[in-house]
Amino acid sequence: EKGGYETFMLKEIHEQPQAIAETIADRTARGVGVDLGDLGAIDDAFLRDVRRIVVVACGTSYHAGLIGRYAIERWARVPVEMDIASEYRYRDPVVGPYDLVVGISQSGETADTLAAMRLARESGATVLAITNVMGSQVTRDADGVLFTRAGLEIGVAATKTFVAQVAAMYLLALRLAELRGTLPAARLRELIAELKRVPGSVAALLERGDDDVQAIARRHYKAEFFLYLGRHIGLPVALEGALKLKEISYIATDAYAAGEMKHGPIALLDDDTPVVCVATDSPVLEKLISNIQEVRVRGAHVIAVATAGNDELQEHADEIVAVPATDWMLAPLLAVIPLQLLAYRVARLRGLDVDQPRNLAKTVTVE
Ligand code: F6R
Repeated sequence: EKGGYETFMLKEIHEQPQAIAETIADRTARGVGVDLGDLGAIDDAFLRDVRRIVVVACGTSYHAGLIGRYAIERWARVPVEMDIASEYRYRDPVVGPYDLVVGISQSGETADTLAAMRLARESGATVLAITNVMGSQVTRDADGVLFTRAGLEIGVAATKTFVAQVAAMYLLALRLAELRGTLPAARLRELIAELKRVPGSVAALLERGDDDVQAIARRHYKAEFFLYLGRHIGLPVALEGALKLKEISYIATDAYAAGEMKHGPIALLDDDTPVVCVATDSPVLEKLISNIQEVRVRGAHVIAVATAGNDELQEHADEIVAVPATDWMLAPLLAVIPLQLLAYRVARLRGLDVDQPRNLAKTVTVE
């Protein structure tokens, strides 16, 4: 059942090209634009005129939402608010008929996410569910559903469902941009074409093997603390990488917007603290590099995930893992892979059960 892999998690990491491809396949098959299929009560007119989007989710699904926020705001120019579902439901949120509330839940059964969505719906908002499970509770509570098609995920740590959620958020962002005319037609076409190339790039990255990541894991698996840094679209990837490591290896991690370092967390660094930087190409890469220099002079050990072919990081990082180039906004789908593998390899070196980490359940039906 593990298809020759030593664990479900490793198998599921390797299923990510299909998870993304299946999620975008027929939705981008039309010559132009994005077809989200039947979104129930959520029609094109509503999406064209929507004034605000609110995303509610927990854990890894929240990180997928964060990536979606950058895409929706940048491409479709709709303001996006984000909240952790367990916070949102208790803060008496201002929400109503002009809002689209997007609840993201792999299992479709997370109690807090369901409650946040119900609350929004009772206040008159239109609610879209993004889930991987047909027939799950979330599909009954929403006005429309956008399914991710990652297939059943057994490992407790979400991997392939995460990339499928990110792909679904990109599709939503592109569809909104198309309906609202906020991107030139040529740019829209180019982004869709680039998104369709991502599964092939993820496959190439996985086929290359992870000797580089394994070497990094061997060097650092006894560390007591890992810091993760990113900026812009790299920040949610850093958050997700840090969550993966802590949940399966039980190592303390922190993830920060790199620009926040000097406002506190830099005090944590001493000689050899591993600092994982999501440093794929982007308009803020130079800013990130100056943050990396700040941590490096404190003796930290910099591990950078960078875009293949960009040698700029060479002189700033102790170790580099390269990922294939893509449109910079889509890079999270590639950059997250080495971070999943790093968490995986570290946990295995520590002799832990990655599929069933302590204290965690795959589906969280209690608040
Ligand atoms: C992390 C993880 C959890 C879930 C969270 C939400 O690997 O799996 O953080 O992402 O419990 O679960 P869903 O998406 O089912 O609502």
